[in-house]
Amino acid sequence: MCGIVGFVGKKQAAPILLDGLSKLEYRGYDSAGIAVRNGDEPAKIVKSKGRLKILSEKTDSGNALIGTCGIGHTRWATHGEPSTVNSHPHISGNCMGTDFGEVESEVIGVHNGIIENFKELKGKLLKHGYTFYSQTDTEVVIKLVDYYYKKYTHDPQEAIAKTMVRVRGSYALCLMFKSCPGEIWVARKDSPMIIGISEGETYVASDVPAILNYTRNVYYIGNLEMARLTAGKVSFFNLDGDEIDKKSTEIKWNAESAEKNGYEHFMMKEIHEQPKAVQDTLNSLVKDGKIDLDSIGLSDEEIKSISQICMVACGSAYHTCVVTQYVMESMAKIPVRVEIASEFRYRGPVLDKNGLVIVVSQSGETADTLAALRLAKEKGIKTLAIVNVVGSSIAREADNVFYTLAGPEIAVATTKAYSTQLIAGYLLAVQFAFVRNEIDSEYYAGLINELYTIPQKIEKILEDKERIQWFVAKQANAKDVFFIGRGIDYAVCLEGSLKMKEISYVHSEAYAAGELKHGTISLIEEGTLVIGVLTQSGLYEKTVSNMVECKSRGGYLMGLTSYGHYEIEDTADFTVYIPKTDEHFSASLSVIPLQLMGYYLSVSRGLDVDKPRNLAKSVTVE
Ligand code: F6R
Repeated sequence: MCGIVGFVGKKQAAPILLDGLSKLEYRGYDSAGIAVRNGDEPAKIVKSKGRLKILSEKTDSGNALIGTCGIGHTRWATHGEPSTVNSHPHISGNCMGTDFGEVESEVIGVHNGIIENFKELKGKLLKHGYTFYSQTDTEVVIKLVDYYYKKYTHDPQEAIAKTMVRVRGSYALCLMFKSCPGEIWVARKDSPMIIGISEGETYVASDVPAILNYTRNVYYIGNLEMARLTAGKVSFFNLDGDEIDKKSTEIKWNAESAEKNGYEHFMMKEIHEQPKAVQDTLNSLVKDGKIDLDSIGLSDEEIKSISQICMVACGSAYHTCVVTQYVMESMAKIPVRVEIASEFRYRGPVLDKNGLVIVVSQSGETADTLAALRLAKEKGIKTLAIVNVVGSSIAREADNVFYTLAGPEIAVATTKAYSTQLIAGYLLAVQFAFVRNEIDSEYYAGLINELYTIPQKIEKILEDKERIQWFVAKQANAKDVFFIGRGIDYAVCLEGSLKMKEISYVHSEAYAAGELKHGTISLIEEGTLVIGVLTQSGLYEKTVSNMVECKSRGGYLMGLTSYGHYEIEDTADFTVYIPKTDEHFSASLSVIPLQLMGYYLSVSRGLDVDKPRNLAKSVTVE
């Protein structure tokens, strides 16, 4: 995910671009850049690795770049590491040149999205004499526009249309052509982009807050559409070059909506915040490539002496405990049991005095979880709380606290807190395994590296969310949905099913796939949606067999598996693929499409996504 901004008008562009980018930094922050043109003069580009503030300092808050037309970008790296050369804007010329240098290339552009066939296109362009200075897919698409521009009629609209037909993937593209001063051209497919107009000024951005300081008059550019922006004017075109008539919308946000950063619901905003929440939580305990549990009161000696772990929580937090149980037992070979807090507190649990009780809670105020914590303490058992809200009751009362860094979670249905709780569980499991000599240092380092790939992989799944939206729209009248899986996949099914129930009010069940035929399979009827989660290679064939059993009874199948398992298409009616990861960590990826399914089903049924009926964010009564 990246943020793009453009401006053409009478004012100086650079300060406006920097201001807009500052509102989009939540979309990416590993590098930033702007390109500005002064009248007919060639554009000047300034880029820098790191946060936007470095770019701002470099350009004296934009004052060092003169010109009234420009584009800017803040990046979250996908293709090519975070670096100045890979940062946007990119140019059609063969060498990037230096900061503030005049750019003689025909096309300059910024891009949000992913060009899937960029390797193939790069090969084509290399044959036509282009060379490449960066590792990005964006440079390829800019050069492709240049290629079509020069090959055909030197018409930006035609060159962009030809490029749009040729590329696969998602994009919000914002371009300046040397031969067209005072113009910005944009094109969009599956990546957000809005256009704002005020007296003599035109703006473009990935998200509304970037331009709210200047205008509330906004146009939404549709999928596979282009637009030409000049000072105070915008014209829209379809792929055939026909002009499209559009009406602007006035943004009437209240303060609360503004906090949604342009998302319709807090839940969708929070779904998109997961990469950052995961990254922040990892960073809090990983130092110099090693996990530091000393800071949460677990020395190596203690880790070695712990005889068993008991994890206690409610709802989604409980579901993360089920995942941790699988991961911890598989990796660290230490017995883990998982308990629902409201059961645990009243059933007189037998706990080993050398054991560790871990309670997990986003709010840190859940009454049953707090009571479970108090019970463990009364019994003299060491306690650790995994909590999101700083200073909450559970955080204050536990012996030690592992804070998840999800930030404030407002939607009632948890998403980003769930994801950070998973990360907390993984970090504990990996460190316990290493300290207790169950894994060697090479595997340990590999696991930590793998954890750091999760944010980017979540990002990739989110880029394809419209496909899930499309599928879910067809299920708006579903009455019963079944989620089946084995091992960690079963644990994820519990969460997928809860997400669906709580916000879309569609009844669903999560079942361990092998358990279905012990009764529940009698509920499968013609057309019942059955979602199979299959990320564990050792269990894959077995879950496929259980899906086939459902199909034979009329079930309509969706398969959720990792890229590579394309044979699932022989069985499932609809498939969703997620990036590969170490299978211990797959829940962090497979849960994302399931969160999106719950969200889109709720939206398609016209429900209050953020505040579902009968629920509250924090359950402080038992
Ligand atoms: C579901 C959800 C709830 C909470 C549960 C525990 O989306 O949010 O199931 O997970 O109420 O809340 P915390 O984590 O605050 O203890």
